[in-house]
Amino acid sequence: MESWIRAVLLVACTLPLLVDATTRHYKFNVVMSNATRLCSTKPIVTVNGQFPGPTLYAREGDNVLVKVVNHVKYNVTIHWHGVRQLQTGWADGPAYITQCPIQPGQNYVYNFTIKGQRGTLLWHAHILWLRATVHGAIVILPKPSVPYPFPAPHKEEIVILGEWWISDTEAVINQAMKAGLPPNVSDAHTINGHPGPMSTCATSQDGFKLQVDSGKTYLLRIINAALNEELFFKVAGHKLTVVEVDAVYTKPFKTDTILVAPGQTTNVLLTADQGAGRYLVTASPFMDSPIAVDNKTATATVHYTNTLSTSALTTAKPPAQNATPVATSFVDSLRSLNSRTYPARVPLQVDRSLLFTVGIGVNPCPACANGSRVVADINNVSFVMPTTAILQAHYFNVSGVFTDDFPANPPVAFNYTGGGPKNLQTMTGTRLYRLPYNSTVQLVLQDTGIIAPENHPVHLHGFNFFAVGRGLGNYNPKTSPSKFNLVDPIERNTIGVPSGGWTAIRFTADNPGVWFMHCHLEVHTTWGLKMAFLVDDGKGPNESLLPPPIDLPTC
Ligand code: C2O
Repeated sequence: MESWIRAVLLVACTLPLLVDATTRHYKFNVVMSNATRLCSTKPIVTVNGQFPGPTLYAREGDNVLVKVVNHVKYNVTIHWHGVRQLQTGWADGPAYITQCPIQPGQNYVYNFTIKGQRGTLLWHAHILWLRATVHGAIVILPKPSVPYPFPAPHKEEIVILGEWWISDTEAVINQAMKAGLPPNVSDAHTINGHPGPMSTCATSQDGFKLQVDSGKTYLLRIINAALNEELFFKVAGHKLTVVEVDAVYTKPFKTDTILVAPGQTTNVLLTADQGAGRYLVTASPFMDSPIAVDNKTATATVHYTNTLSTSALTTAKPPAQNATPVATSFVDSLRSLNSRTYPARVPLQVDRSLLFTVGIGVNPCPACANGSRVVADINNVSFVMPTTAILQAHYFNVSGVFTDDFPANPPVAFNYTGGGPKNLQTMTGTRLYRLPYNSTVQLVLQDTGIIAPENHPVHLHGFNFFAVGRGLGNYNPKTSPSKFNLVDPIERNTIGVPSGGWTAIRFTADNPGVWFMHCHLEVHTTWGLKMAFLVDDGKGPNESLLPPPIDLPTC
């Protein structure tokens, strides 16, 4: 045979093996469903009748099509939290930011490709407070025949932490907004939809049970889908080895407690290396400010094979609610893997240096219960949602929907974290910060103590960022940067700004479109702790926002 024919045949025969990306179709029916395993039988909004919702499985490189059909009375959108959505902002999901909501009886196909990411993320409703019950896991497997950078686990388990209200969550927040007061805290935390056997808010059920074989190792994909609470997670008698957060591999490290904020994910390895038996799993709140939280601990069990379900349960106390040292030591241990295959591409030079204060304030409100209302802001701007989608207004050049004059610095410099209230006055606006394509950004998120300092898990859509520095008190542009880690800082999409402190992040604006950034405590988002970046198109191929899909909902 001619050698060129042989070459062509060889290529043709191996081609199917090389084509590793496929298209995955999902259908999400948003429907009311009874939540009988929880403390009430009231119907809740779900996807496909499941709580938590169905897992979206994909491989790195896959094209994912999710047809969302809205069968409930609320407007709906779904966000694929942490999926980069390169050039496909139309599929990102935050209502009135990248799309108009899917109205009752309507549907929309979210169409995106997963590029350069693998690991655990989550999807959730991104409108009103619907994500309380409308959420689920996203599992992105590595490309075929690409191993994990850690020993292959015997089995994988998804562990979704949530928060449960007996009352209807839309009623809870609507009532609070009318009164200008904080909403009621939840009635229970949940692990895979169960408050657990030791909860006071449980019907006759045991809670989630993780079955393990002695000596084997399990990969737990832990997701915090709670609305308003950062959570500690712990397994009695066992160490957890952290290997990934927010779909980015980390340098492995052992810990007995992990901290996971709403919107964050953490993959850990759990080896069943203890004596056969039953071990308590706990999810409990972290709050180191004088702010009311739901203090109930959700529980589950790790159950060794061949152990009677009546055998003694090994328990361990969850960390105290205000255990700042436990939280800090966990956060300080996180490092990007930064290997040859998975490098940490930290921007070393910065084009835009921004300082954003994040916090809670009080504004006058004659009609409210106390004559004032709680508001939240970034750089004193309490963000106002428009009534049409910003991304559409940007793409079609519709004026009057937003402005691109979001302040790069606080309008008034003050002692952000100390002293009494100094700077209560917030302004409202739909203001965006504009970034040239591919510019590098350093953003310092500075907590304020106007009412009380508080930890804010801030989420940036469309990007991963590197958390290069963190500290207590006020950020000092002269001294703080000297301690930055520019080698292997953790890379993620949601970061806790410490109570009374600051966090510095860096990212490259390589994704054209409109990208929401907000506190992932839903109550703070509702109060206005949100803004958006507008990233311009680049000049090269694959550097522009793609045209909108034809079925994009209208407002
Ligand atoms: Cu997970 Cu804008 O949210």
